[in-house]
Amino acid sequence: MLRVALPTGRILKDAERFLTAAGYAPAENLAATRKLLVPSQCGRLEYLLVKPVDAPLYVEQGLAELGISGKDTLMELAPDLLEPLDLGFARCRMVVAGRPEIRRSLDNTLSPVRVASKFPRVARLHFEKRGIPHVVFKLSGSVEIGAVLGLAHYIVDIVETGTTLRENGLVVHEELAQCSARLVINRAAHYSQFGAVGAVIADFARSTENQHA
Ligand code: PRP
Repeated sequence: MLRVALPTGRILKDAERFLTAAGYAPAENLAATRKLLVPSQCGRLEYLLVKPVDAPLYVEQGLAELGISGKDTLMELAPDLLEPLDLGFARCRMVVAGRPEIRRSLDNTLSPVRVASKFPRVARLHFEKRGIPHVVFKLSGSVEIGAVLGLAHYIVDIVETGTTLRENGLVVHEELAQCSARLVINRAAHYSQFGAVGAVIADFARSTENQHA
C-alpha cells in the first residue's frame, strides 16, 4: 500500500473528486472525517490528511511515497521532491498586488520596499532577482489588509477569483506564476518502488488527460 499525503483546506474537495475519478476513491468522505489516515476503497492507497504546508515534508521524509500539493506551497517550501504531474485543479495565480495608486518605482533604492506575504521566500526571491532592496513581513493570513493599512507597499499572495483583492480595493501589479495542484513523489520511493508508484502516476496522468479532453 502506498501512502499519499493530502492537504486539508480548500484544495481537499477537488483532490477527493480527482482521486475518485482516477479510480482511487477514499473509503470515507475526506472532508467530513476526523481520521488522519484513510484507505482508498481499492486498498492500494492510504491517504494521510495534513495541513497544506506540512504535506511536502511527509513526502520528502518518506512517510508518504506520494503527495498532492499546490504549486504555491511548493514554490515557498522548495522541497526536494519529484513533481511529475500538473493535476490541473486548484488553479490560482501568484501575484504582486497592492493599492492601485502605489506608484512606487521598483528601482527606487532610497528606502527598502516593504512587502507582506504568506510566501516570504517567494517574495524575497522576486525582489532579490530584481535587485530591489526590500523588507518582507511574514503574515499568516488576511495579507491584503497589510497593503490596505500601509504595513507594506506590496503583498505577494495567491489570487483565485480576485474577490478578496477587489473587495479590499487592491489590484494586481505583476503576475509571478500560474499555480495548480501537483503530484509530488519521494525521490527514493520513485526508484525503489518504481512499479507501484509508476502505476499510480500513469492512472493519475490518464485521469488528468480525460479531464482536459
Ligand atoms: C487566499 C489568499 C487570498 C485569497 C484569494 O486566502 O491568500 O487572500 O485566498 O482568493 P480570491 O482571489 O478567490 O479572493 P485564504 O482564503 O486561504 O485565507 P487567509 O487569508 O486566511 O490565508
